[in-house]
Amino acid sequence: MDDLKNAIRDIPDFPKKGIVFKDITTLLADAKSFHRMVDLIAHRYLDKKIDQVVGVEARGFILGAALAYKLGCGITLVRKPGKLPYKTVCKSYELEYGTDTLEIHEDAFHKGDRVIVADDLLATGGTVSTVVALVEQLGAEVVECAFLAELDFLKGRDRLPEGKVYSLLRY
Ligand code: PRP
Ligand code: ADE
Repeated sequence: MDDLKNAIRDIPDFPKKGIVFKDITTLLADAKSFHRMVDLIAHRYLDKKIDQVVGVEARGFILGAALAYKLGCGITLVRKPGKLPYKTVCKSYELEYGTDTLEIHEDAFHKGDRVIVADDLLATGGTVSTVVALVEQLGAEVVECAFLAELDFLKGRDRLPEGKVYSLLRY
């Protein structure tokens, strides 16, 4: 995985002093790295009967859409406030560098849908635990939350049930 790690660059003090931002734009722009990321993560779920991928705004849309295409299912968008046009359910949460709210359409799932949540990075786990709560509130089952990268020292996976997190790269 070192080649994938090398395709991500660290940006110190972004968006705030003290945060080392993992900039994945360099990985996404490199065809070989981008395809490898998608293929490796999708492979894990090919035989898991996934009904829907949930992509988290904004960087989660990229991995989420590619995964959904590979798995032959659709993608449901979890968005920042005021972006989704139909009736939504919403929930607020804390980030490594601020607070935010996420929304999802209230009719996003059929009861019991098997869902993968996709995002680029797991930090404190505030975002993904909020997404999981929204998905479960709407009656779907979260099979696993899949990330390109995880910042282990922030212990985000402790905010989710055991066995529900998969990250391709660990820092
Ligand atoms: C980033 C990242 C994850 C989240 C992880 O998104 O893409 O969604 O932070 O942090 P957490 O585990 O501490 O919640 P951000 O809110 O910066 O939005 P963006 O994708 O729109 O840039
Ligand atoms: N989201 C939350 N923390 C982050 C970090 N350090 N790098 C990139 N995205 C993030």
